[in-house]
Amino acid sequence: MNLSTQFCGIKLKSPLILASGILGVTGANLATVAKAGAGAVTTKSIWLKRHEGHPNPTVLNLGNGNLINAVGLPHGGIEEAKEEITNFRKLSKAPLFASIVAGKIEEFIQVAEKVAELKPDLIEVNISCPNVEDELGRPFACDIKLAGFATQAVKKAAGKIPISIKLSPNVNNLGEIAKAVESAGANAITAINTVGPGMVIDVETRQPILANKVGGLSGPAIRPIAIKCIYDIFKAVKIPILGMGGITNGRDAIEMILAGATLIGIGSAITDEGVEIFGKINKEIAEWCKLHGVKNLNELVGTVGK
Ligand code: DHB
Repeated sequence: MNLSTQFCGIKLKSPLILASGILGVTGANLATVAKAGAGAVTTKSIWLKRHEGHPNPTVLNLGNGNLINAVGLPHGGIEEAKEEITNFRKLSKAPLFASIVAGKIEEFIQVAEKVAELKPDLIEVNISCPNVEDELGRPFACDIKLAGFATQAVKKAAGKIPISIKLSPNVNNLGEIAKAVESAGANAITAINTVGPGMVIDVETRQPILANKVGGLSGPAIRPIAIKCIYDIFKAVKIPILGMGGITNGRDAIEMILAGATLIGIGSAITDEGVEIFGKINKEIAEWCKLHGVKNLNELVGTVGK
């Protein structure tokens, strides 16, 4: 079966996308993921200027594929992004999504303008990292007005490049926030960012294990939360959804498509299974579709309960 699809006018060979932040910042390793079967790859979140991450430990494996992390969004800044994207383009024809992050709306405009010059296929706007509260204040994605302002600002700065706003599950009005970013000009929504933040304590030292004390949860444990969030967003808006959160196999991917996702991000599962997981899930999706007489995945999007 042909798994090719379209998203914001971008043609993709597979609906599976490398989620932001899970692999390094070299064009070569992004190209490896595309070769392994991802329909598109997402860069780590790009800051305008060099940004130091948190000290170690930054990631804790909770077992069963679940992680808690507070990496602190380390990045070398726009020059590093330029090198990464240029190298990727030399090695792969797959679409590239550039994730951007900033602390203030003004900085979002600046980084979006600079990143737009690098001509990514889509700009994903990370307004929902859960670990930056002390540094940046509450994530914009948790405030309906700020989420709208950030969207409007980036949309203008991005010119013709489509933008997808990455939303947080850590709110009780996700549908309204999704509507606000759609009205502000978003072309798509990415959901969900990590859940929490949470905390893990070492009972011997009586200290939180992560250097940042708190971190975002990911992996299969959060999948039911992601599914519900995508279900709520799909009901609220008309723009397409790049869904993610705990997907590890073809059945999970189909479940998320039924909830309303057009594309599916894969992140934490790569930690245990490597990039081969893209080929594996593509195959499992195709088998499921064959078994159920589904010719095109678009037939399934948002059809839960129908
Ligand atoms: C970090 C960023 C995120 O967007 C997230 O969901 C979890 C952690 C970080 O770099 O700390």
